[in-house]
Amino acid sequence: MSLIDISLTPSVDSETEAIFKRVEHLIPRVEWPLHAPYVAAINRLKRERNAVILAHNYQVPEIYHTVADIVGDSLALAIKAAETDADVIVLCGVHFMAETAKLVNPAKTVLVPDLKAGCSLAESITAADVRMLREAYPGVPVVTYVNTSAAVKAESDVCVTSGNAVQIVEALDVPRVIFLPDEYLAKYVASKTTTEIVAWKGHCEVHERFTGAEIRRFRQGEERLVVIAHPECPPDVLAEADYVGSTQGMIEYVADVRSQRVLLVTECSMADNVSGSYPDVEFVRPCNLCPHMKRNTLPKILHSLQRMEFEVTVDPAVAERARASVERMLEFSRRAHRG
Ligand code: 13P
Ligand code: SF4
Repeated sequence: MSLIDISLTPSVDSETEAIFKRVEHLIPRVEWPLHAPYVAAINRLKRERNAVILAHNYQVPEIYHTVADIVGDSLALAIKAAETDADVIVLCGVHFMAETAKLVNPAKTVLVPDLKAGCSLAESITAADVRMLREAYPGVPVVTYVNTSAAVKAESDVCVTSGNAVQIVEALDVPRVIFLPDEYLAKYVASKTTTEIVAWKGHCEVHERFTGAEIRRFRQGEERLVVIAHPECPPDVLAEADYVGSTQGMIEYVADVRSQRVLLVTECSMADNVSGSYPDVEFVRPCNLCPHMKRNTLPKILHSLQRMEFEVTVDPAVAERARASVERMLEFSRRAHRG
């Protein structure tokens, strides 16, 4: 494929004018010429390649609002990856999300703009660790957070996301589960069910930095402040929250609660991405940045589509078993959706 001209021509200007409207509250007009040529080139290449861009809610606004076809939390991205007719999926998130997309739709080419976009939770546990736990707790089902490698998923009975962990643990209807690898999500699930939880000591390097004291300081003299937190936060943070849920759940709660001041206890881009839809809401942002999510940039996405890099594949030795644990989760979601 020949090199693409990345300059602000009159045609790029007119092609991207309507797109700019979606981000003008976030990106100053003076900065738009830096993004516009990439946005135009990416959108053109997507059509040529029959590609779709799936972007997590933590992507920067210039990705989330201008080139992404589907945005959402881990669960939504997995569901949409399974359903897509596109030939190519560019996953703007982190590596485990791309692996999950490949597992649920193996015929597609799955690309990531940066192979180093990892996750501290996925790094915290190996397949050998899961086998060791199974030996220590024979017969106890292994419930694994989707923020893990395919090799770890392959050793698990069922996957969960932050959006369905409580419901899936309840649905298993067993006295005890091994819940991996997020210790804080495990504690949150334990607080919501009667199931005994055997946890691991994995943490999200972004959410573990929030503290209950910090949230209490924001609350001082602010009776009407609504606190919304991700369940990867430590228990003392979740104790201060009015709502705890996945990134998609957080967005839906903002829509439902209609409060004037909302404190989002999660990654920085969430408030940026949500704020445009709720101009009447003031978002208070004690945000921490995920360095892995931020590896994705417009130039890297363009490079990815031009060169068809970097392809994510799953070792055939683990793919079938890993797929089974993700499929069990998706089947649970479909059933829950049907009611
Ligand atoms: P969600 O599934 O809630 O979007 O969470 C993914 C994630 O990595 C949060 O840190
Ligand atoms: Fe992983 Fe935390 Fe980044 Fe989410 S925010 S991808 S859990 S490191």
